Amino acid sequence: MKICVLPGDGIGPEIVAEAVRVLGALDLGVEMEEALLGGCAVDATGNPYPEATQKLAQAADAVLLGAVGGPKWDKNVREQRPESGLLGIRKQLGLFANLRPAILYPELANASTLKPEVVAGLDILIVRELTGDIYFGQPRGIEMRNGERFGLNTMHYTESEIRRILRVAFEAARKRNRKLCSVDKMNVLECTQLWRDVAIETGREYPDVELSHMLVDNAAMQLVKNPKQFDVVVTGNMFGDILSDEASMLTGSIGMLPSASLDANNKGLYEPSHGSAPDIAGKGVANPLATILSVAMMLRYTFANEAAAGRIEAAVKKVLAQGFRTGDIFEPGMKKVGTREMGDAVLAAL
Ligand code: IPM
Ligand code: MG
Repeated sequence: MKICVLPGDGIGPEIVAEAVRVLGALDLGVEMEEALLGGCAVDATGNPYPEATQKLAQAADAVLLGAVGGPKWDKNVREQRPESGLLGIRKQLGLFANLRPAILYPELANASTLKPEVVAGLDILIVRELTGDIYFGQPRGIEMRNGERFGLNTMHYTESEIRRILRVAFEAARKRNRKLCSVDKMNVLECTQLWRDVAIETGREYPDVELSHMLVDNAAMQLVKNPKQFDVVVTGNMFGDILSDEASMLTGSIGMLPSASLDANNKGLYEPSHGSAPDIAGKGVANPLATILSVAMMLRYTFANEAAAGRIEAAVKKVLAQGFRTGDIFEPGMKKVGTREMGDAVLAAL
């Protein structure tokens, strides 16, 4: 088991350090090697996804990533922004299937801004297509047309790109409550009309899964109105970016949510759903649980080690039950801890 570790920027190094300790403690004989991705890579090499990182990531079975980005690099030309490194590694490794679970831990029910009865027991999975759509479509750019600046991006999908992500979503639904909601904007966008057509066709291969369709604006509304109507949601790259942030906040704390980005052979990149949080970087207060839970997803999806994945998840549940809380999920009466102490608590629970 070869794992490429990319701590990244901001709180990335702090939270990844805890996840690495947890992985090490499981004694699975993993080989871990670190490399640069994001702003730190731009600073060191001028490239957010340097050659050396590419080699390591391509040779590894899985990649563990902290987070990339920060105000320091926001004014860089696009090719030298941390985000370009992230998009580059997703595209190069063919990580088209992004799984973003949103689970509300009962211990954290008060962390949500929604009424407890709306979110209690929430367990949904957003399946986001990750290597196509307007994110990667050509032509793109800002140019002069008729004496004024003109901004251009292109949304496109091939039917095979749509079919393969739909299959991932149907398979995931089969392992859950057998309900899949496909989200599009077919009333306006041809590209997503094709999405719906292919979703319906693919659905014929999965008669045991109940397929529904929803327009993205309505989906955004339904997610806050009645989120528990959803089991698995599948959508394109752009809509998935937005809806997955919304879904994560139903749980009150984006600091708890892991994610997996998989290729066709279950090679994967695992990262917390949250960003690099530059405002709290270096202070030792960030919540490492999303990254630790990302390691559990890695063990489940890439290494097919359900037992080890379950051990990590059980340990996280236990530390929550014991009252350990980082600042983002803190409530009066609980034990406030920093990044390292939270890591210690998980290790003890393991
Ligand atoms: C995410 C992030 C990225 C995305 C950014 C950082 C490029 O928002 O993983 O959701 O838009 O995909
Ligand atoms: Mg996003």
